[in-house]
Amino acid sequence: MSKNKKALIIGATSGIGKALARELVKNEYIVGITGRRKNLLQEIQKESPERIQIEAFDSTQPDALRHIESIVKKLSAFDLLIISAGVGHMNFDFDYAKENETNQLNVIAFSQMVNWGIHYFENQGHGHLVNLSSVASLRGGHSAPAYNASKAYQSNYFEGIAQRIAKSKLPIYTTDVRPGFVKTAMAKRPKMFWVATKEKAAHQIFRSIQKKKRIVYITKRWQIIAWILKGIPWLLYKKI
Ligand SMILES: NC(=O)c1ccc[n+]([C@@H]2O[C@H](COP(=O)([O-])OP(=O)(O)OC[C@H]3O[C@@H](n4cnc5c(N)ncnc54)[C@H](OP(=O)(O)O)[C@@H]3O)[C@@H](O)[C@H]2O)c1
Repeated sequence: MSKNKKALIIGATSGIGKALARELVKNEYIVGITGRRKNLLQEIQKESPERIQIEAFDSTQPDALRHIESIVKKLSAFDLLIISAGVGHMNFDFDYAKENETNQLNVIAFSQMVNWGIHYFENQGHGHLVNLSSVASLRGGHSAPAYNASKAYQSNYFEGIAQRIAKSKLPIYTTDVRPGFVKTAMAKRPKMFWVATKEKAAHQIFRSIQKKKRIVYITKRWQIIAWILKGIPWLLYKKI
């Protein structure tokens, strides 16, 4: 068991996290998966009970780190930490409850998880930390202001962490994954294009992890949208 690569995915009851769990199992990883919906975790575990460990908890609650320690014990150790737990609401009414829910998970719980993970890898002397940010990180967004801002925070945070690691010279890696549209429960926009399946997204994310890429757009052609988005002048952007 100790020869297997091991990964922990935060937020794998559905969507990209679940597809990544399956992708990693296919590639002979032992995987720990988390999320609030225990029944969904149990269903996924049934697919490969010898390779999957589960722990149900809410990442925004005070006992989150206790649950993390608990699943790490079940895995005994791990090399790859993927943060896929995220929330985003279309929020045209600018409802503060929705903004706050987004910030609690995508900013506060995210930061706690990264802090815990980096200390874990620094103590271990190696590891790879991956986060699911978004193309939305590149510009503000009127339909979900906290979502875009929280993704900008995540990507910026990851650059800071990558700089910290570069200074330490330890073999620790970070990958800032920036998906465009992926067909999951979260992708709720009425008009979407270049929508990838979660399986395709997971496969490309796994390939990027293997290549130890620091920043990756999923699917690859979303790099083009990123270039365009960054270049749109405000006079035009405010009308979109
Ligand atoms: N789909 C897209 O088009 C797209 C595009 C760009 C970026 N992303 C990013 O990709 C990541 C994954 O999203 P997805 O599309 O796969 O959506 P999803 O299917 O809704 O998955 C979100 C995951 O996060 C978990 N989660 C949510 N709130 C949680 C909480 N408070 N505590 C613990 N776990 C929590 C959910 O599990 P439970 O509900 O069971 O807790 C679920 O497993 C997100 O960070 C998202 O921002 C997605």
